[in-house]
Amino acid sequence: MADDAESHREPEVNRFSITRRDFVRMGAAAAAAGASIKTTVLEASPFAAQAADGPPVRFAIVGTGIRGCDLLKAARTVPSGVCVGAADLYDMRHQAAQEVWGGAFATTRDYRVLLDRKDVDAVVIATSDHLHRRVTLDAVAAGKDVYCEKPMSHSVADGQAMVDAVAKGNRIFQAGSQRVSSILYAKAREIYSSGKLGEVHSIDAQWNRNSPGGAWVYPVPADASPQNVDWERFQQDAPARAFDPVRFFRWRLFSDYSSGLGGDLFVHMLSGIFAITSMNAAPVRAYSSGGLYHFKDGREFPDFLETLYDFSSANGPVQVHVHCNQNNNDADERISFFGSTGTLVVTGSSVTFTPQNVAARFEAYGWGGMTEAQRKKGQEDWRDAHAGAAQAAAPEAESFTVPRGYNDTADHLANFYRAVHTRQHVVEDEVFGHHAAIGCHMANYAYFHRTLANWDGDAGKIVG
Ligand SMILES: NC(=O)c1ccc[n+]([C@@H]2O[C@H](COP(=O)([O-])OP(=O)(O)OC[C@H]3O[C@@H](n4cnc5c(N)ncnc54)[C@H](O)[C@@H]3O)[C@@H](O)[C@H]2O)c1
Repeated sequence: MADDAESHREPEVNRFSITRRDFVRMGAAAAAAGASIKTTVLEASPFAAQAADGPPVRFAIVGTGIRGCDLLKAARTVPSGVCVGAADLYDMRHQAAQEVWGGAFATTRDYRVLLDRKDVDAVVIATSDHLHRRVTLDAVAAGKDVYCEKPMSHSVADGQAMVDAVAKGNRIFQAGSQRVSSILYAKAREIYSSGKLGEVHSIDAQWNRNSPGGAWVYPVPADASPQNVDWERFQQDAPARAFDPVRFFRWRLFSDYSSGLGGDLFVHMLSGIFAITSMNAAPVRAYSSGGLYHFKDGREFPDFLETLYDFSSANGPVQVHVHCNQNNNDADERISFFGSTGTLVVTGSSVTFTPQNVAARFEAYGWGGMTEAQRKKGQEDWRDAHAGAAQAAAPEAESFTVPRGYNDTADHLANFYRAVHTRQHVVEDEVFGHHAAIGCHMANYAYFHRTLANWDGDAGKIVG
């Protein structure tokens, strides 16, 4: 019934004279429906391509699998940093890392060899999630700054240990949700903080993927064996098991090493929301639903997960709905901020603002059950009551996209190098990273315990 009633509202706009505001309102609806609005291509930020004031940051990378190689590829384009060594537990990846970097550097299975080197300023960590804490703590103890891939932690306790260690060691730490450094998110932040959206109490974030080959079912090399995979080091901080290359190469499927969709994608979206709204805190509470509907291959996580969070922000309560679908649905990545005077939608390549028409207008819909004479009288009374009311100009709809080939990982690395040089903390520091990861752990807690997950800030833990 409610849907039927709502579907009758829009034609009422045309029953009476179309004001400029109505026109804007329809424009906003058209924009939301994908019709043409002015689109500006954003300029790439200058930092990534600039050389540093001093010598480039010399970093060693720990973990040169899929993401480690992507980081190295992006790092090639950022002159203020240089890779001087790499550690990985699968020997072929020593070669893969140098191929993608386009030059030779020292390689090892044991990252501590790299931490001992005086010519290493910083460490980039791209291991499976369960080892982020160990490598970070060792790197900080060795006096290195740290760029650690998202999700920062594999548990709340891991995250707190990392926050404490970084503070104690007075190191620069950046978590690796690169959207935070994106020029798109900077534009979204500018629009959000301009006040154009009015009050925002509702945010919806989704990331859906179409992976017909099997989500997270990454290749297991035919030659993988205990001879070329350092299985013992991989199992540190995880329950001991017999050699299993599927666990090593598809670790995202297993809770010993991964946090599932929460750690893989929720964290990106929560980090993006924090960056745009400056809301940097653990959620107050979370409720999750979902299931393992499609990929019944022994994985330990749902392939469809949705979580409703309550956040408390400086501007009042905010409900954040995050949902990810791996069931071969390619609706992709989108964060929508629903404000009282406008809607902001951020996708992987665009930011779109559409204003709401909030000017006073005759609400004809409510007069539908009246006689023609009553309706006319109501309209005349409304016009008399509003005669001479000021007509403020409504903001225009606007849209922005990134330039072709834009890479936010390069910007994120450049921000990290700059912080290493200046000793100024980055936006996505250890506390930010910890808060975003707590969001992911609360989503999983709520899902697996079938309960509300509440954040107990005094105890620093999730309670049911
Ligand atoms: N920011 C992003 O967009 C993004 C994208 C993908 C992955 N990630 C994150 O990057 C990390 C790595 O993911 P991936 O897809 O590259 O996984 P992967 O399995 O492809 O690579 C991980 C590598 O880490 C190595 N490793 C594990 N423990 C190690 C240790 N103690 N010492 C040295 N090497 C070790 C493994 O040998 C493996 O090669 C994860 O935390 C993941 O969440 C981030």
